[in-house]
Amino acid sequence: MGLTLDQSYYQRTSFKKDLFKGKVAFVTGGAGSICRVQVEALVLLGANVAIIGRDQQKTESVAQEIQSLRSNSKVIGIGNTDVRDIHSLIKAVNYTVKQLGRIDFVIAGAAGNFISDFNSLSSNAFKSVISIDLLGSFNTIKSTFNELIKSKGSIIFVSATLHYYGIPFQSHVSAAKAGIDALSNALAVELGPLGIRSNCIAPGIIKDTEGFNRLKGDGDEDSFAQKIPLQRLGTKEDIANATVFLFSEAGNYITGDIIVIDGGAWHTFQPA
Ligand code: HXC
Repeated sequence: MGLTLDQSYYQRTSFKKDLFKGKVAFVTGGAGSICRVQVEALVLLGANVAIIGRDQQKTESVAQEIQSLRSNSKVIGIGNTDVRDIHSLIKAVNYTVKQLGRIDFVIAGAAGNFISDFNSLSSNAFKSVISIDLLGSFNTIKSTFNELIKSKGSIIFVSATLHYYGIPFQSHVSAAKAGIDALSNALAVELGPLGIRSNCIAPGIIKDTEGFNRLKGDGDEDSFAQKIPLQRLGTKEDIANATVFLFSEAGNYITGDIIVIDGGAWHTFQPA
């Protein structure tokens, strides 16, 4: 896929180059399309990052590529890790702490999705998506919790806006993402006294992503864009910018929130 961000990111956003120096992020799904660009932004701003994924080769090669954005940041790829399996996540957390020393930021981004009508969706298919998206998000926080306590860290779940509507053929992922919103809200209240913040980012239609490419079918981008109040599709950089804001000091009184990044689409009567 290649890098999305480069050194021009500093000028474009005005974020300080060393904003996250000394911080460590643990990102599930970090080799995928949206989370990968969240990682790129964190690395450009000085963080060290562990990218967690199922595919060993992909995870390691994405980590290597992102490392090239900033030579004095460390980016490690930890493959063979399935968020459905808490034990594999605990191993990944232990390795991260051994290599990078701590965990300040967690992005629970690993997700699975496909289009299926209810009648064709088997019980196991529904369970698979719930297990990756919802249980996987729970496992991600469960396994990083001791590190988050030490660092008074911050969590971002990657949710969606699908469940604000009734979207056909997406009952499995809509149910999972609604659960993620609820999980984040509950954790914000429960973990707030420990100094840990928990928020969701809910992307709308983001171009050049696996999710949109699958869901758009034959629709062309312009016709989707026309239905969005801001008249364009979102970019992965839009998601990265909100991530930076939430993890930074500028976001330090925000918890239990869901930041919708969809150009205003969900306020219309139908999703773009
Ligand atoms: C109906 C399907 C199906 C399909 C799989 N299944 N694909 N049913 N239509 N297209 C069924 C299988 O038949 C099986 O049920 C069950 O789901 C589990 O399938 P497996 O292939 O064994 O599961 P697994 O290998 O664990 O793979 C999980 C997966 C897969 C979710 C099915 O697609 C995956 O790993 N995806 C990860 C990558 C991904 O999806 N990225 C997109 C993220 S985008 P039976 O009954 O036969 O056993 C995203 C954005 C969401 O999430 C928001 C969008 C706006």
